[in-house]
Formats: sequence, structure tokens, C-alpha cells
Amino acid sequence: MKKIIALILVAVMLTCVFTACKDKSTDDDKGDTAKTKLVVATSPDFPPFENLENGKVVGIEVEIMELICKKLGYELVIEQIAFDSVIPGVETGKYDCGMSGISVTPNREESVLFTDAYCLAAQCIVVKADSTIASKADLAGKTVSVQSGTTAEEFCLGEGYTVDSYEANADAKLALTSSKVDAWIVDDLTAAEMCKDDASVKILGENMTTEPYAFAFNFNDEELVEKFNEVLAELMADGTVAAIFEKYEAPYTAPAQN
Ligand code: ARG
Repeated sequence: MKKIIALILVAVMLTCVFTACKDKSTDDDKGDTAKTKLVVATSPDFPPFENLENGKVVGIEVEIMELICKKLGYELVIEQIAFDSVIPGVETGKYDCGMSGISVTPNREESVLFTDAYCLAAQCIVVKADSTIASKADLAGKTVSVQSGTTAEEFCLGEGYTVDSYEANADAKLALTSSKVDAWIVDDLTAAEMCKDDASVKILGENMTTEPYAFAFNFNDEELVEKFNEVLAELMADGTVAAIFEKYEAPYTAPAQN
């Protein structure tokens, strides 16, 4: 009889332990480590990093993010939003992560926690093919288009140019091709990708800034960022990140150091 009672007790205890574990693994709202879904906000108008192809978000950052999520056991959920809402959305905890070719800047570091950088980019100047603007010096007193909330916008306002900001990156380009502005200021690899089949525009050789790209998280997710950094370091060290850039025919510049 005692044995039977003991066996029943063990069975009850095991059931409790099992139920507790199960509850924890399906709870994706509390604490970083218990999350199973990673909700990632992106503005998919930034090829080759994130772009829409047949309604699907594809690109260099999507591939890197997929590998990291796989390694860490997260289900990747991508939410499409305007670029200028990405950092505020991560800051307020609406999204777990921001993935949008985000340049790390001191201002942004006050709002979000960045992973280590995985590449370097730069702001460049795009003008009409027949433009007389040949360098940054020629931009003085000119009107430029940029995407809202970007480092291009911050840089151009700082330089004192007349700035036309557009929510969508494609509209910033359109402002140039429709002659509303004298130049379009945008990140170098995106300029190259968005202008590669367009003879009506040219990219000037001069890069105006150096900007590391990283993924953005909420300040509460320090532990998760550490894990991300570990995987990111592996993917950079074994050449995976460089190979992904190569797949998209984008020249890769590794960050100097993290
Ligand atoms: N690197 C620039 C920045 O951080 C531009 C990023 C734009 N990204 C996008 N997905 N549209 O401000």
C-alpha cells in the first residue's frame, strides 16, 4: 500500500514539473530567455539589406537574422513598418528587434541597445546623369532628398542643405529622378543596388561618412544581445557574413573592431 502511495506521489510530482516546464517554454511575453518568437521590425525598402520580393522580405540582413534565430532557437517574425518608427518601436518594447540597415549613432545609443556592428557603410551622393554637381562641395545651397529618420537626414540637416524627407526610400529617389531635388543622399550599397539599371542617375565617388550597421534591441534585453553578439562573431569569423554579401554582389567592409 505504502509503495502505491509513493508511486502516486512521484507521478503527481512529475506531472507538476512537466506542466511547469511546458508553461515556461510557451510563454513568450516574459523575460528574454523564455521567448520563442522574435518580433523583428523592418522597413523593407533598403536593398540589398531588406527588400520586398513577391511580397516577401529578403536581403542580407534577413539571411543573417535567420541564421542567428535558428542558432538561438527563435522563430523569426518580421513586421514591416516605416523606417522612422523602427527605433521608437524597439525602444517602447513594441518589437523585440530592429533590423533596417540601422547605423549606430550616439543619439540612437541613448534609445536602444545595439548588437556589435557587422559591416561598415557610408552616405553617398546620387545625382542626375547630366548634373554638374561633382562632389560634396557642390552641394552647398542645394536641395537634397533623404529618407525620414535616417542618418542621411541628420547629416544633411547638419550640413545646412535644404532637405526634403520622404517616408519611403523609393520616393526619396523619385524626388531626384523627377528633378524635385538636386541630389539624393543615401547609404552607398543601397544607392548602388537601386541605381544599377538606371542610366538617368549617377553615384558620385565621394563617401561622406562611415557608419557601422547593427541590430537594435530594447535596453531590457542585454542577455539576448550578448547571445546575438556571440553568434554574430562566429558568422563574421567563419566568413558567413562576407559570403552573404557576395551572394548579393555587395562589396563587404568588415567593422574595424567591436
Ligand atoms: N543607415 C541609415 C540609417 O541608419 C539608413 C537606413 C535606412 N533603412 C531602411 N531600411 N530604409 O539611418
